[in-house]
Amino acid sequence: MPSRLRITPRLPQELMASQRLKGKVVLVSGASRGIGLAIAELCGSEGAILVLVARRSRALAEAARRIRGQPLVLPADITQPQEADALFRRVQQRFGRLDVLVNSAGVFTFKPFRQTTLEDWCANLESNLTSLYLTTRAALPLLRRSRGPHIVNILSIASRQAFPNCSAYCAAKFGALGFTSVLREELRPRIRVTAVLPGPTNTRMIREFGFPVRRASLVQPGDVAQAVLAALLLAPRASADEIVVTPSRGKL
Ligand SMILES: NC(=O)c1ccc[n+]([C@@H]2O[C@H](COP(=O)([O-])OP(=O)(O)OC[C@H]3O[C@@H](n4cnc5c(N)ncnc54)[C@H](OP(=O)(O)O)[C@@H]3O)[C@@H](O)[C@H]2O)c1
Repeated sequence: MPSRLRITPRLPQELMASQRLKGKVVLVSGASRGIGLAIAELCGSEGAILVLVARRSRALAEAARRIRGQPLVLPADITQPQEADALFRRVQQRFGRLDVLVNSAGVFTFKPFRQTTLEDWCANLESNLTSLYLTTRAALPLLRRSRGPHIVNILSIASRQAFPNCSAYCAAKFGALGFTSVLREELRPRIRVTAVLPGPTNTRMIREFGFPVRRASLVQPGDVAQAVLAALLLAPRASADEIVVTPSRGKL
């Protein structure tokens, strides 16, 4: 009798080597495009179980199709307390815990202060700052059930540097850096907290303002995602407190 040939399915080498987030539950806000989508894609390729959040459900569902595994798609406006709370209740019901919270959702207004309306001001403060308070508050009980909990907030070089025509955005991002730094001190060593401060990055946020820059010179969303992954993969004894990612050419 001829012996049966056994064929063991084999993953390509690069995929076998890159399951470094296998089984980790990672929630990414702002995951339908730009930096959030790149972070979700990279974490998915590393074996994470993903929860994708943004307001528009169709864009979010399209994003989910680009991501490995079967991400849980939860449309929500994270500036709204009830929606943020409901979001994390769904995560609780489905997974019972959260390992990584990535806050990438945000908006950007580019206009002189004298033209900045109260509506612009509130949109920036709510999306870039209050949302961090709301998601963190709702996520903490779930993060406490993780063996290696981590919060990553995508902030900006505008969290440190003043840029003309960005008063509402800078006010929110400066506040978000302050909030993130306090959180790190209060939650250490159990929960690690990383602030990522990207410079100009090639996403819709930058493109829609038509800045005269060469796109290829900008930081790419995948570069920011690599910085996030590096922070997540550090040994638990080490914390990447702040990571600044700027175009290597310097000022554009
Ligand atoms: N691009 C840059 O040059 C740059 C530089 C430094 C820092 N950053 C920061 O990086 C983060 C991501 O920016 P990006 O360039 O990737 O922006 P983007 O391409 O405009 O994407 C923003 C994402 O946030 C979501 N979002 C916005 N408001 C939301 C809300 N209230 N609730 C839930 N989701 C919301 C959007 O989806 P919906 O509209 O469907 O909700 C979208 O998925 C932001 O915090 C931004 O401030 C960007």
